[in-house]
Amino acid sequence: MADQKAILKAGDKEIELPILSGTEGQDVIDVRSLGAQGYFTFDPGFMATGSCESEITYIDGANGVLLHRGYPIEELARDASYLEVCYMLLNGEAPNKEQYEEFRATITRHTMVHEQINMFFHGFRNDAHPMAMLCGTVGAMSSFYHSDLDVSNSEERMRSAHRLIAKMPTLVAMCYKYNVGQPFVYPRNDLSYAANFLNMMFSVPAEDYEISPAVERAMDRIFTLHADHEQNASTSTVRLAGSSGANPYACIAAGVASLWGPAHGGANEACLNMLEEIGSVDRIPEFIERAKDKNDPFRLMGFGHRVYKNHDPRATVMRESCHEVLKELDLQDPLLDVAMELERIALSDDYFTEKKLFPNVDFYSGIVLKAIGIPTNMFTCIFALSRTVGWISHWHEMMSEEKQKIGRPRQLYTGYSKRSFSPIK
Ligand code: SDX
Repeated sequence: MADQKAILKAGDKEIELPILSGTEGQDVIDVRSLGAQGYFTFDPGFMATGSCESEITYIDGANGVLLHRGYPIEELARDASYLEVCYMLLNGEAPNKEQYEEFRATITRHTMVHEQINMFFHGFRNDAHPMAMLCGTVGAMSSFYHSDLDVSNSEERMRSAHRLIAKMPTLVAMCYKYNVGQPFVYPRNDLSYAANFLNMMFSVPAEDYEISPAVERAMDRIFTLHADHEQNASTSTVRLAGSSGANPYACIAAGVASLWGPAHGGANEACLNMLEEIGSVDRIPEFIERAKDKNDPFRLMGFGHRVYKNHDPRATVMRESCHEVLKELDLQDPLLDVAMELERIALSDDYFTEKKLFPNVDFYSGIVLKAIGIPTNMFTCIFALSRTVGWISHWHEMMSEEKQKIGRPRQLYTGYSKRSFSPIK
C-alpha cells in the first residue's frame, strides 16, 4: 500500500505519519518523526511495537503460522536437518547439497573450545545451575575472540556465527558433565551435529555410548523447533546489546541470560516441574483453579504466548514428537498423560480460551527431553543451544544494515520535577 498515512491529532497539531507495509503481516506506523514533534510513543513490553525490519522469520499469531525464510516450520521439522535450518537462517536461502556439505564441514571444524575454557568451570560450585555456567562461559568466549574481531566485516561476523553454532553444544555438554562430576567429552568430527551433542553429554571413558537413531532424530528436531522466533525477549536483548557494537560472544551471553527467565525459555524446565507437581490427572482441576485465581501468582507453565493467540505450530509438532519418541523408545511416561489431559481440560475452559492461552513450544518439549534422558535443569540450556543460530542471525542482519543505529528507547518520566538539594548538616 504505497503512500498510506496515519493522521495523529495531538492538541492543535495534526501529524502525518507514513504507514509502511512488509511482505506479510501487519502494516506499521513509522513514528520516527514524532520525537521532533515533541512526542514519544509509550508501549511497555513492546506489545504493539516493531523494533526493526527483518527478513528472517515471520509469525502470524492469529493463524498459528511460523515461517523461517518463508519455509513453514512444520515442513522444516519434518524434512530439514537443524544445520540446513542454520544455513538458511544465516544466509537467506536453503543450501544446495554442495553448500550444505561445506557448511557442515565448517561447523564440525569449530566444535572444540579453547582448552583454557575448562578452567572457567572449576570456579563454579558443582551444583551451579547449568544456565549460570553457560551464561558465564559463553561470555568468557569474548575474551578469546576480541582483539582482532571487526564486527563491521561480514566475513568476520560469519566466522563468529560459525564458531558460536559449533561451540554451544560443546559448552552445554560441559555444563552437564561438570554438574554430574564426569570428565568433559571432546567433540567427534565423525558424528552428526545432534549425535555429537548426545555423545558429549552421555558418553563416559569407561564404555562406548550407543546413539539411538530415534533419539538423534528427536534431538535434531528439537533444535530446529527452537531455532528462531522473530523479536522475542532474548533475540531483542541480543539486538540491543549488539547495537552498541559489542563483542558478539558477549551479546549471545546476554541472550542466554534473558532466555533463562521462566516467562521465556525457562518455561520448559518450569513446565516439567509443574507437571511433576501436579503428578496425576485427578489433581489437574486444583491447578487449573489456581491458574485462574487472580490472587495466586501461579500460572500454567507452557501455556500462553505474546504472539500466538491461536496455536503455537511448534507445540503441535512437539506433541507428535512426544508420541513418536516414547513409542520408539518403548517408554511410558505418566506425565504425558497428565500433559494431554491438562491440555484438553484447559482448552475446554472459558478462562483459557477467552484469554487465548494455548500450549506453547515449551509445553511438550520437557517431556521429549526427559524421554531422551536430559535432566530438567538442562532444558533451558538446550533451548539456548538451539536459539543461538537465531540470535546470531538477527545480530548479523542488524550489523549488515547501512544505517545501523544504537538502540536507545526513551520513557514517560513520572519522578520529581527539579528541586534543590540540601546537604546533611
Ligand atoms: C517462550 O516471545 C516468544 O516468541 C517466546 C518463545 C520463543 O520461541 O522465543 O515462543 C518462547 O518464551 C514461550 C512462552 C513460555 N512461557 C510460559 O509458558 C510461561 C507461562 N506463560 C505466561 O507467563 C505468559 O503467557 C507469557 C509470558 C508467555 C505471555 O505473556 P503476555 O503476552 O505478557 O500476557 P500476559 O502476561 O499479559 O497475560 C494476559 C492474561 C493475564 O490475565 P489478565 O491480567 O488479563 O486477567 O492472561 C493471563 C494473565 O494473567 N495468563 C495466564 C497465563 N499466561 C497469561 N494465566 C494463567 N496461566 C498462564 N500461563
